[in-house]
Amino acid sequence: VVVSSEERVVVVTGGTGALGAAICAAFRAEGATVVATSHGGEAREGPSGERIVPVDLRDEVAVAALAMRVRDEHGAPDALVCSAGGYASGRAVETDAQAWRAQLELNATTAYVACTAFLPAMLERGSGQIVLVGSRAAVRPFAGAVAYIASKAAVVALGQALAAETRDAGVRVNVVLPSTIDTPANRAASPGADFASWVAPASLAEAIAWLSAPGSRDINGAVLPVYGNA
Ligand SMILES: NC(=O)c1ccc[n+]([C@@H]2O[C@H](COP(=O)([O-])OP(=O)(O)OC[C@H]3O[C@@H](n4cnc5c(N)ncnc54)[C@H](OP(=O)(O)O)[C@@H]3O)[C@@H](O)[C@H]2O)c1
Repeated sequence: VVVSSEERVVVVTGGTGALGAAICAAFRAEGATVVATSHGGEAREGPSGERIVPVDLRDEVAVAALAMRVRDEHGAPDALVCSAGGYASGRAVETDAQAWRAQLELNATTAYVACTAFLPAMLERGSGQIVLVGSRAAVRPFAGAVAYIASKAAVVALGQALAAETRDAGVRVNVVLPSTIDTPANRAASPGADFASWVAPASLAEAIAWLSAPGSRDINGAVLPVYGNA
């Protein structure tokens, strides 16, 4: 099925996560066709009508195959949002090379693989927007999550390097840096915290949708703090 040219096609990695589901909802509210990736589970329809497709984003062959399918069925995506990722704590002296590699793979490699899989179709068409989800910790490191912080710094650098590469090709690449997102997992981990100071997933999703909309057409290579009051 090739969708009408007015209907935007958006790919959201980690679309089943706390933030990812809100991103899918924001784009669906605009009438976009949304393909969301999960890690586990079956292919299914998500709560906002997004199409959920399981794929291990560390597997470049599987992600390239998905990109081909999306292109065949929907056309080149208008936007790609890379929200897949996750947090592991550990100071340097507590982090072995395996734990280090696992965080680099989960946060940086997944974004890299998704970008390189979906970018060629955008470059060929001469338009597209990519938004990567970094973390405040990438630019304001704290003690106790060395591999996570390094992996998110790699995401920031990836976004800026891609923005430089695609600047003349009509493709924009920007990075958002959330502080603490108000997710069920964070509430469970910090029950005494002031949840209202955290960033609501829907609010961050709006910022991401704006970075992939025409209103931000002159913004490329930005690293945008989205800190709320946290
Ligand atoms: N939560 C925060 O406070 C916070 C703060 C700063 C930055 N961030 C960043 O924001 C993003 C979203 O966070 P979140 O709290 O929404 O995370 P989440 O709820 O844990 O969701 C993570 C998503 O990534 C997917 N995923 C994990 N490993 C994967 C793999 N190898 N291949 C494919 N998909 C994989 C998961 O799929 P399944 O559902 O199938 O497991 C899920 O959709 C992450 O990049 C995170 O680092 C979060």
